[in-house]
Amino acid sequence: MNLGLIHTTVLLIEAVNAVFGQAETDAPRSFVDATFGRGGHSRALLSRMAPSDQLIAYDKDPQAVASAADIEDPRFSIRHQGFDRLAELGPASVAGILLDLGVSSPQIDDPQRGFSFRFDGPLDMRMDTTRGQSVAQWLERAQASQIAEVIRDYGEERFAGAIAKAIVARRQERGPITSTTDLAQLVADSVKTREPGQNPATRTFQAFRIFINAELEALQTALTASLDVLQPQGMLVVISFHSLEDRIVKQFIARHAREQVDRRVPFAPPPSLRLRALGRIKPSAAEVAANPRARSAILRVAQRTSAP
Ligand SMILES: C[S@@+](CC[C@H](N)C(=O)[O-])C[C@H]1O[C@@H](n2cnc3c(N)ncnc32)[C@H](O)[C@@H]1O
Repeated sequence: MNLGLIHTTVLLIEAVNAVFGQAETDAPRSFVDATFGRGGHSRALLSRMAPSDQLIAYDKDPQAVASAADIEDPRFSIRHQGFDRLAELGPASVAGILLDLGVSSPQIDDPQRGFSFRFDGPLDMRMDTTRGQSVAQWLERAQASQIAEVIRDYGEERFAGAIAKAIVARRQERGPITSTTDLAQLVADSVKTREPGQNPATRTFQAFRIFINAELEALQTALTASLDVLQPQGMLVVISFHSLEDRIVKQFIARHAREQVDRRVPFAPPPSLRLRALGRIKPSAAEVAANPRARSAILRVAQRTSAP
């Protein structure tokens, strides 16, 4: 469905500056926008790239990929693939990678995609609507213990057990849950205390979305692949939107950028570090005021060293 939905790009200038880094070179460079969305970052990257550079974009969402047809630039190409396939680009082939994680506004704001408890729609939540199972299909068969684990691990929800039990009881009494509003109501009825200013279904919807799209596994795979794919001095730039994602990014960068002394062999030379941590950036108050969806964003930057 085309509702004319738009996506306001988060940390646009900051992310693009970070992807280019400091190094000036006349040699052709390849960059990766691993999360095309509606192409806000891609367009800004293209506007600053040299004529011989290339930009390879990825998105799992067929609607995002279709929207890229607007970009008529021979330096640009897009793949309808998950960014967990980054390793296929080959070793030391890329000068900068950007991951702007999570969902786009056109995904959240289209009731047919089933991402939001604010609209009534089918309980889907798949980014890639051409494969995999929807949340509704998964909930038809999942055991209460698995549902509870997902809500607890990916939603950090205190009432995970009660919500899972209610989902299974409802399935047995009245058939499976198929709509977003059904799920939101059931969660609201199962949660005993409410967090001020937050819909009671927020955590459960976040958990189901992360699970059904295997978001954290894909992030881990892409980060690991980036170590091989980036050239020496290449830039890794990641924007995350919740603490589970940011923790993975932060720990990954720290693991490859911080010298760790092996206590068993304290005088052994430290292993060579593959990343240099260059810090983090949060959106300005002005950006958050203009685009409230930017409020939880954290951008982290690291640079590949020349260590093998
Ligand atoms: C926050 S939006 C990106 C917005 C984009 N930077 C812009 O300015 O328009 C995230 C996008 O990443 C896509 N995405 C999320 N996880 C993905 C994955 N594992 N592989 C490929 N695309 C993914 C989503 O479908 C969504 O379109």
